[in-house]
Amino acid sequence: MLDETNLKEHGQHHILEYTKVMSQSEKEQLESDINQLDLDEIDKLYQDVYINRKTIDVADNIEQVEFEVKDQLSEEQLKSYRSLGIQAIKDGKFAVLLMAGGQGTRLGHKGPKGTFSFNDKSLFERQAEQLKQLTEEVGTPIHWYIMTSDVNHKDTLSFFLENKYFDYDENYIHFFKQDHIVSLTTDGQLILDTNRRVMRTPNGNGGVFKSLEKTKLLAEMKENGVEYLFLNNIDNALVKVLDPEFVGFTVEHNSDVTTKSIKAHSGEKVGRLVSIDGKKRVLEYSELSEDDVDKLENANIGIHVFKLDFLIEAASKPLPYHLAVKKLKQLDEDFSVVEEESLKFELFYFDIFQYAESFATLQVDRTKEFSPLKNKEGQDSIETAQRDLENNQLL
Ligand code: UD1
Repeated sequence: MLDETNLKEHGQHHILEYTKVMSQSEKEQLESDINQLDLDEIDKLYQDVYINRKTIDVADNIEQVEFEVKDQLSEEQLKSYRSLGIQAIKDGKFAVLLMAGGQGTRLGHKGPKGTFSFNDKSLFERQAEQLKQLTEEVGTPIHWYIMTSDVNHKDTLSFFLENKYFDYDENYIHFFKQDHIVSLTTDGQLILDTNRRVMRTPNGNGGVFKSLEKTKLLAEMKENGVEYLFLNNIDNALVKVLDPEFVGFTVEHNSDVTTKSIKAHSGEKVGRLVSIDGKKRVLEYSELSEDDVDKLENANIGIHVFKLDFLIEAASKPLPYHLAVKKLKQLDEDFSVVEEESLKFELFYFDIFQYAESFATLQVDRTKEFSPLKNKEGQDSIETAQRDLENNQLL
């Protein structure tokens, strides 16, 4: 049964109208969806993240994080990082985590982004291939964790199955789903999706740590002797997964968080790695003024290594929700499908940096290591990724 008083108190009684024209089973499903929600918390989320939202004031005390530049390291230094890295991978100290909860919609591609192919080779396969090669080089299997979402979990699993796991040992591939959270109308009301269920959307890539904790994967890594977790985005066509030189750099610095970065172009739409009162964080392009964007040229490319013990401690600590206003397909009060500006709530994985006590950054050459696939055309597009793969002889 739906608690009418509770719904009214939270301004969610519009739900009752929907139930009047629903079948018994739809009603039961909706009731079960609603009864799992904490309406007080949803109210608070709406107030904190939308109504009382603040623009970030990054004026005075914001600095770039310190970084070393890979191109300035000597051949000898790089060689030494490489052999340190290879040894650590051989000793089973590193696991890899791919964040792949997103879809390829903006590319005009149906299905998970990782299934997008260049020259018949998908992004998933390109990353699997690198790990396979590395496994063969060191002679130790590498655990590969892949985060999906409700939106693409099934399709991702079937894609891997159809492609026989790209010849990677499937016992070392672990899929897990991120969490989801309700979306709201701009008036703070719950939304019905086209299946007549309460709309929930992936809670952003920052859901990764809690999901790892909940599924006991962090504990499993620890048991397997893993000491560091390498993390990367799905959409960087040039990503060097578990690059041994960077792994060596990580082991040498032994920081809670180690990050690869690039020097951003003027106005480039990438997050900036900054330090505010000594605490490290990423400020997204959209959070910065035009002036500040270009003052901060050390940019985030979604490649990091976390010390496992740091994650075990920090995973349960709170992270803030960020707001995204997006057009979402939903049902109106007549059950017609409409697309309305709605509120999505997202966690960002890099907000966990605030809990890190040590932080090291290596700035790398973007032409060799960063080509994000975000759009169908123009900047960071299929065309630019294709060009960059070609320039690096990776097509
Ligand atoms: C991200 C970074 C940005 C960086 C840029 C580099 C975030 C919040 N921002 O921006 O600082 O400069 O990459 O390319 O990460 N994902 C999930 N679940 C979700 C949302 C995203 O798994 O709910 C995954 C995506 O599949 C992708 C990664 O997280 O692999 C990055 O997410 P995306 O939404 O593409 O972030 P960007 O805006 O590109």
